[in-house]
Amino acid sequence: MANAHSGKMIVGLDIGTSKVVALVGEVGEDGTLEIVGIGTHPSRGLKKGVVVNIESTVQSIQRAVEEAQLMAGCRIHSAFVGVAGNHIRSLNSHGIVAIRDREVSVADLERVLDAAQAVAIPADQRVLHTLPQDYVIDNQEGVREPLGMSGVRLEAKVHVVTCAVNAAQNIEKCVRRCGLEIDDIILEQLASAYSVLTDDEKELGVCLVDIGGGTTDIAIFTEGAIRHTAVIPIAGDQVTNDIAMALRTPTQYAEEIKIRYACALAKLAGAGETIKVPSVGDRPPRELSRQALAEVVEPRYDELFTLIQAELRRSGYEDLVPAGIVLTGGTAKMEGAVELAEEIFHMPVRLGVPHSVRGLSDVVRNPIYSTGVGLLTYGLLKQSEDMVLTGNSNSNSNSYGDEPKAPVLERFKRWVQGNF
Ligand SMILES: Nc1ncnc2c1ncn2[C@@H]1O[C@H](COP(=O)(O)OP(=O)(O)OP(=O)(O)O)[C@@H](O)[C@H]1O
Ligand SMILES: [Mg+2]
Repeated sequence: MANAHSGKMIVGLDIGTSKVVALVGEVGEDGTLEIVGIGTHPSRGLKKGVVVNIESTVQSIQRAVEEAQLMAGCRIHSAFVGVAGNHIRSLNSHGIVAIRDREVSVADLERVLDAAQAVAIPADQRVLHTLPQDYVIDNQEGVREPLGMSGVRLEAKVHVVTCAVNAAQNIEKCVRRCGLEIDDIILEQLASAYSVLTDDEKELGVCLVDIGGGTTDIAIFTEGAIRHTAVIPIAGDQVTNDIAMALRTPTQYAEEIKIRYACALAKLAGAGETIKVPSVGDRPPRELSRQALAEVVEPRYDELFTLIQAELRRSGYEDLVPAGIVLTGGTAKMEGAVELAEEIFHMPVRLGVPHSVRGLSDVVRNPIYSTGVGLLTYGLLKQSEDMVLTGNSNSNSNSYGDEPKAPVLERFKRWVQGNF
């Protein structure tokens, strides 16, 4: 949250493996969001989505936040923060309660979601999200908006996401050290889903894949609700590494070469095009064909897409995602990535960028900002729910610390609003 503007401010902080992004959004009179500030800084303190160096992470966050503050012309006090990494676990669960006054009330919903998340969770994990899928009232299945319905027995089906206590605490520590409060911590692919998927895709069935620098984050939606989440610890950093090894060139050059010249599908790269590769030590630069570079890159993308496909199969939702695959995150920007993915998945594949954002849209319509923009969208929904529920526009009340009791109701409201 921030001040000095007429409208309400929401801040999203995406602490990625490659970069930290702070986005400031201003909520207009009509309830829409306009992005008024952005700050990004290379990230040095993370490996595969988790904080491994607090000091470097704090510095990156500070720089990104300062830049965003300058641009937005306001001070940032708190933020919605993303979390990722292969410590994330998820499962589908359900809970059952008796409906107290034969009509489903907000209190019944809170109780049923509490019951649904009361699953055995390892001591080193904590609940991050309890996302309602649908409800059963007596024998009526597939109820999406149970509030006010009559019955005696209420069952909730939910997707529970947990994360390592330590990983979350380290993120919290870094953000607090920058003098910021945490409004909420959100699973990164859930945030990305908010900014890149359409309601139609979620309704029909879709698999979102956010391929960043350190991790590939997956989220599967069917019938409007989230059904499965997973993290694969392979992403863009591996591609860069492969190039550095194969071309015997320092990592920073490999990164540059990758972004400027690489291609995920060797047959799309012109054999005649050549590039200059700086060598290690004092040796002179060498020439290389783009085709040869693509032959280094394609197997890694191939491996990654094959792993994603295996995860999709394991989830049991492979035949339930007719809207196909939506790729986002920086690594999805590679030329030929969508084409190669279509060959492997035999499904429609598209590149997802943040949609329906106002302000700085030229900047943020980029797959690397999907999580950041999604954090703002999530924040906007959450704050409007808090207002509805408490009649209070100050939503700073639910910081990450008092989970899990407060968010349950909000998640229900979000579901009612047709989001998840
Ligand atoms: N045009 C491009 N072509 C190919 N790769 C790209 C391109 N632009 C950026 N990348 C790669 O995308 C990755 C960064 O993506 P992104 O910003 O989504 O990651 P992140 O959010 O910081 O990391 P993570 O989500 O894994 O923690 C880097 O590996 C970078 O090399
Ligand atoms: Mg990311």
